[in-house]
Parts: sequence; C-alpha cells; structure tokens
Amino acid sequence: MLNYSRNRAHSKPNRSFSLEAMDLADSRRKSNVTGKVLMAISLITLCIIILKRSPNFSSPSPFSHRQPGVTHVLVTGGAGYIGSHAALRLLKDSHRVTIVDNLSRGNLGAVKVLQQLFPDPAQLQFIYADLGDAKAVNKIFSENEFDAVMHFAAVAYVGESTMDPLRYYHNITSNTLMVLKAMAAHGVKTLIYSSTCATYGEPKKMPITEGTPQVPINPYGKAKKMAEDMIIDFSKNSDMAVMVLRYFNVIGSDPEGRLGEAPRPELREHGRISGACFDAALGIIPGLKVKGTDYKTADGTCVRDYIDVTDLVDAHVKALAHAKPKKVGIYNVGTGKGRSVKEFVEACKKATGVDIKVEYLDRRPGDYAEVYSDPSKILRELNWTAQYTNLQESLQTAWRWQKSHRNGYGTRMSLHS
Ligand SMILES: NC(=O)c1ccc[n+]([C@@H]2O[C@H](COP(=O)([O-])OP(=O)(O)OC[C@H]3O[C@@H](n4cnc5c(N)ncnc54)[C@H](O)[C@@H]3O)[C@@H](O)[C@H]2O)c1
Ligand SMILES: *[C@@H]1O[C@H](CO)[C@@H](O)[C@H](O)[C@H]1NC(C)=O
Ligand SMILES: *[C@@H]1O[C@H](CO)[C@@H](O)[C@H](O)[C@H]1NC(C)=O
Ligand SMILES: *[C@@H]1O[C@H](CO)[C@@H](O)[C@H](O)[C@H]1NC(C)=O
Repeated sequence: MLNYSRNRAHSKPNRSFSLEAMDLADSRRKSNVTGKVLMAISLITLCIIILKRSPNFSSPSPFSHRQPGVTHVLVTGGAGYIGSHAALRLLKDSHRVTIVDNLSRGNLGAVKVLQQLFPDPAQLQFIYADLGDAKAVNKIFSENEFDAVMHFAAVAYVGESTMDPLRYYHNITSNTLMVLKAMAAHGVKTLIYSSTCATYGEPKKMPITEGTPQVPINPYGKAKKMAEDMIIDFSKNSDMAVMVLRYFNVIGSDPEGRLGEAPRPELREHGRISGACFDAALGIIPGLKVKGTDYKTADGTCVRDYIDVTDLVDAHVKALAHAKPKKVGIYNVGTGKGRSVKEFVEACKKATGVDIKVEYLDRRPGDYAEVYSDPSKILRELNWTAQYTNLQESLQTAWRWQKSHRNGYGTRMSLHS
C-alpha cells in the first residue's frame, strides 16, 4: 500500500511535464506530425494486410499465450467417450480447450460435433497426434500454454489387457510418463488423471475407500496403478497440483443427445455391459450372456457401481477448481450403491423397450462378486455427489443416441426409422 502511493506521487509530476511539453508544439509542427502519423498508419495497415494473407506470418495462435480469466485445458483422448463429454462441459463453462487424440479409438465425429457447437477458433483446437511420440508431445507443449491437463487418453479394456499387456503398459504407463515429463519441462501446473477402480483389484472389504490397498489383478489395472505411482512420486518434489480420479463403471451420455459412446466395432467383444445391452437391443448380437449366477450377492449375479458420465465430468470440473499446488487429491468417483447384473439387464430392457434375450452361463474367470465405492471423501472435500445417475434413465439417454446413430459418428440416422 505505502509503496504504491509513493510511486504514484513520483510519477505524477513526470506525466504533467510531458503534457506541458506537447502543448508547447506550434501548429506547423502539428500538421507535419499529422502527415507522418497518417503515413505510418497506412504503412502499418499494409503490413497487417500482407501478414494476414501470408500463412507463414499469421498472428500468434490464441492458444500460445495465457489469457487472464481463461483456463486453457489440454484434454488428451478428447475424441473418446469420456474425453469428448469432458471437453463439451469445459467449453460450456467458457474454458479454452485443446484436444489431442490420435483417433486410434476415438471419433473425429465427436470432435466435429464440438467444433460445430463452439465454432470460435480461439476456444477449441484439435491436434491429431500420438502421445507415444515424444517429439510430437514436446512440440504441442512448446506451442501451447496450458493451465491444466486432463489426461484421458488410454486403452481401456480389461480383457484386451490380459491378451496384449504391452499395449497397455505402452499406451497407459509409458504415455503418461511422456505427458508428465512434458508438463514438468513446460511448467504446466495442474494434472487431473483418469484412473480406475481396477487399480484396487479384489478387495476383501466393501465398500472401497481411497485407503483400500491397491492390488490390481490385470495389466489394465496394473498399468494405471503404475501411472498413478509415477505421478504421485513426481509430485512430492514439485509444486504440481494433482487430482487422481478413480472411476467406477461409467454409463450414459450427453442428456441433450449431442455426444455418445461409439467404440470401434472390433472392440465389441471386449466391450462393456452397456454396449452389449444396446447391441442386443439393436439386434447386432443375439442377446446378452450373463456369466455367473451363483455369486454371494442378493440375486447371485455380480454387483457393480455405475456412474453417469455427466456426473463423472462434473467431478473433473470440481477437481480442477479444488486442485492445489504441491497437493495430491485421490478420489473414488462412484455412487456408493452397487447394482447387480440382473438389475442392469432389467433396466436395459425398460430403457430400450426391447425384450432382450438373456442367457445365464457359468462364471467367467477373473470376475469378482462385488465392487462398489465409498464416495464420502469426494463429497466431503470437493462437494461432489452423483446427481444424474439413475440406471434406467442413464441407459435411456444413451439408448436414444445409439438408436439414432447406428453407425456411431459415421452417419446420422433419422429418428423416424
Ligand atoms: N469407460 C469406463 O468405464 C472407464 C472406467 C474407468 C476409467 N476409465 C478411463 O477413462 C479414460 C477414458 O476412457 P474412455 O472410456 O473414454 O475410452 P475411449 O477409448 O473412448 O477414449 C480414449 C481416447 O484416447 C485416445 N488415445 C489412445 N491412445 C492414444 C495415443 N497414444 N495418443 C493419442 N490419443 C490416444 C483414443 O483415440 C480415444 O479417443 C481412460 O483413461 C480409461 O482408462 C474409463
Ligand atoms: C496411434 O498411436 C499408437 C501408439 O500409441 C500408434 O501405434 C498408432 O499407429 C497410432 N494410430 C494412428 C492412426 O495414428
Ligand atoms: C499401443 O501400443 C502398441 C505397442 O505396444 C501399439 O502397437 C499400438 O498401436 C498402441 N496404440 C493403441 C491405441 O493400442
Ligand atoms: C455443494 O453443492 C450443492 C449442489 O450440489 C450446492 O447447493 C451447495 O451450495 C454446495 N456447497 C458448498 C459449500 O459449496
């Protein structure tokens, strides 16, 4: 305060002195000056026109410098299911978004939807790049000033991970190391990391708290756990703000029907239960196979904790708002309520209106009876709780999109068909 007023007192006489000096100029000199100013203005205008027309000298990208009041978030995997929904919410909240995705699993169609909704070229950009490519990643971080990274990009099928483990250690663990190093090198201060309940493995005690020991039992869970460990170790000696979100089973899609879940057809066999439900309702597969009816659960089928993607994205926004330098926040993101496969199938039948054929089979090795979260920490610390998750309604929303996008983002089907 004191310093400030003293500086002002000093600068005042200076300013009035220069004004007086200008007032002393005679009228002839003034017109001379006017001519020079006009000349300068036309030269500058000419330069601007030339620069604007020349692609090599275009004005600096709005993504390359910080703008006060605007948070620039790098969304890796933003063409994917969860990443695209997160990008939509960030854009709606007036953030600036850079999506990096190599479209190995995501959809350019999702990016196009976002670009149509948010056409301002200074708000959203898409960069086609592979996070396994160190040179590409470094270029992205040198050409852009990010305030935060939401790292969604990954491969994410448990079954596939047991068949092709290196694909998982490469595209989860090693790529996360790449992102982390680039963030450190370029001083990006906030990381929100997509982790999973698969890092817990088969805990003996339910519900799962953040303190439940992490003993993953498949390469997917192990690769994610290793990525978490790396991030947490790194953050101990840095001032990075880190939030690790461990999602449970994600379902649903944008309530306004703009985005959906559209995995590659060849990944169907590894797919999640909601995808199988819709495929059965569409007649792409003959029916649903429920594996295991003799688990120690109320109705004998496996119990899982399903979370709507709208709620999940909201948890990311809250995590971003609460991220603090030098702090790591680890949170389960679930509802805390387990739902059985039988309940899921019933909800799916009601949501789709299709009497899906269900076959009850023996257990599949590696499945555990019950998994559900204790979400009290995230409520206590981030004031987040599931607001939109309702098994039948979430499935109904997703079904509406599936029905009108039979080829995913490929072609838009008429709703009347
Ligand atoms: N869907 C779930 O139920 C669930 C549950 C727990 C955790 N997660 C985690 O959430 C994140 C997002 O999952 P999703 O369901 O949206 O998956 P997704 O496959 O729909 O999206 C992943 C995106 O990452 C991109 N990608 C993969 N490797 C890349 C690379 N090397 N370079 C650039 N882009 C690459 C893909 O093209 C894809 O668009 C993942 O980290 C996943 O492990 C998902
Ligand atoms: C995507 O990245 C992987 C490495 O993670 C690479 O092997 C693959 O060729 C890339 N795909 C495309 C379409 O660029
Ligand atoms: C993942 O890594 C493997 C190398 O282990 C690579 O062949 C593959 O294309 C990568 N990308 C994806 C999306 O699987
Ligand atoms: C917590 O969130 C609820 C809405 O979910 C809101 O009404 C309430 O004001 C929030 N409380 C605080 C302390 O921010």
